[in-house]
Amino acid sequence: MTVATALHEEGRRASARLPHEWAVQGNSLPTARYADRGFAQLEAELFWPRVWQMACRLDQIRNSGDYTVYEILNHSVVVVRVDEVTVRAFHNVCPHRATQLAMGSGRFQLESIVCPFHGWKWNLTGQNTFVASEEEFKTTCASRGDVDLKAVHTRVWAGFFYINLAENPPSFDDLVAPIAALVDGVKLGEMRFHYHYQARVNANWKVAQEAFMEAYHVPQTHPQLVPGGGAAFTALYSYEAMPKGHGLFHSGGANAVGRLSAEALREMSHEQQSEALLRGLITLQTGQDAQIHLEELEIARSMRHRPIPEGMTVGQYFQIVLREYYAHQGRAVGEAADMAKVGDMHIFPHVTFLPTYGNAVMYRSRPTPDNDPDWCIFDMYAIRSYPEGVTPPKWETTLAEGALDNAKSWFLIPSQDFSSIVRQQRGMHSTVLDRVILADRQESLILNMHHELDSYLRG
Ligand code: FES
Ligand SMILES: [Fe+2]
Repeated sequence: MTVATALHEEGRRASARLPHEWAVQGNSLPTARYADRGFAQLEAELFWPRVWQMACRLDQIRNSGDYTVYEILNHSVVVVRVDEVTVRAFHNVCPHRATQLAMGSGRFQLESIVCPFHGWKWNLTGQNTFVASEEEFKTTCASRGDVDLKAVHTRVWAGFFYINLAENPPSFDDLVAPIAALVDGVKLGEMRFHYHYQARVNANWKVAQEAFMEAYHVPQTHPQLVPGGGAAFTALYSYEAMPKGHGLFHSGGANAVGRLSAEALREMSHEQQSEALLRGLITLQTGQDAQIHLEELEIARSMRHRPIPEGMTVGQYFQIVLREYYAHQGRAVGEAADMAKVGDMHIFPHVTFLPTYGNAVMYRSRPTPDNDPDWCIFDMYAIRSYPEGVTPPKWETTLAEGALDNAKSWFLIPSQDFSSIVRQQRGMHSTVLDRVILADRQESLILNMHHELDSYLRG
């Protein structure tokens, strides 16, 4: 049995235990999985409290005392940097009268977490250090330890900070084992802030995530990225559904930088190749400013004037020049062979990233605090490596409310995605469609994700 068949079989068994209206059948998914409050409730009870979740990038909390709050459903977790090597996470609630201790992001001054209501205090490792009028609590608390903050399980990996709300969480190492080497290979762990937008989006968290788990939509949704036509473009990609709900697709490096296949380029003169490469990169730079930045465009422009080594396409040589330039700067970039393996990777359950040399764009989605299945909280991150000795800009989260499906106030590429995401969610409520259907190959990562989700939902 192949890995894909084994995964499919396992997923089918998990799904079979769900009621018919929620069960995955073959390559079809009930719309109720996206639109039904009961299904969202099942996820809230059996999935989110048990699954490892990316709470933030470590880069968001660089200095001692820095914090950021991660909310998932009605759980709120405050992630705090204690010192250079230690980061802790606590349930964000005061043990006195339940006030949330932190909101958004910021810094706890004087290495002390202070409740804004009556001023109880904790050190950065969550131990209580002060209770106002302490003598009045002797009947209910024997010691300060009784009012320490409640820690959650945490792991650091690839520059991410993960949390798990369960008392006895499943193994984190088992979760990332299938993809750890691939993620290390693209040097995601060494990438830092370029930008971070966050918004409430009018779609289920799975709808929002799945829009980035296939290239099938690219010719129709992003025609500017596919000047050569749809079929040739989508045929470039291989898809690999992986254990634990992860998956990746890639074009074997054809679009690690630029979206041009070696075959297509060989038919063109060097000048035509340079022009096509530049055009492709400009659409990515202006379209999202994440996978390609202005400095890569400058290098692409210089390709017109460079002699191209015999037997190489301009695109291939561009990648060599780019890598040399980064190496000269002391920037972290993946090896060419490693980069070729990852075009787009879904990290189960709710992160998808697309790397290029030294840069990546990344998407995360999750349910809202009120668990409305028609809404999610969506994050779009651009991260990159920086030249040696350069301090990356301070992390800032920009709220992009209302801008996401509007290319005038936002980047073109994600605005094209968001306009479909929101319409798709509306369609999930149609009375004449109770199932969506998935392409065998190009939408296989979506099916794989649902199967893994069901392995939690079977209880
Ligand atoms: S609610 Fe926090 S100190 Fe009273
Ligand atoms: Fe897209």
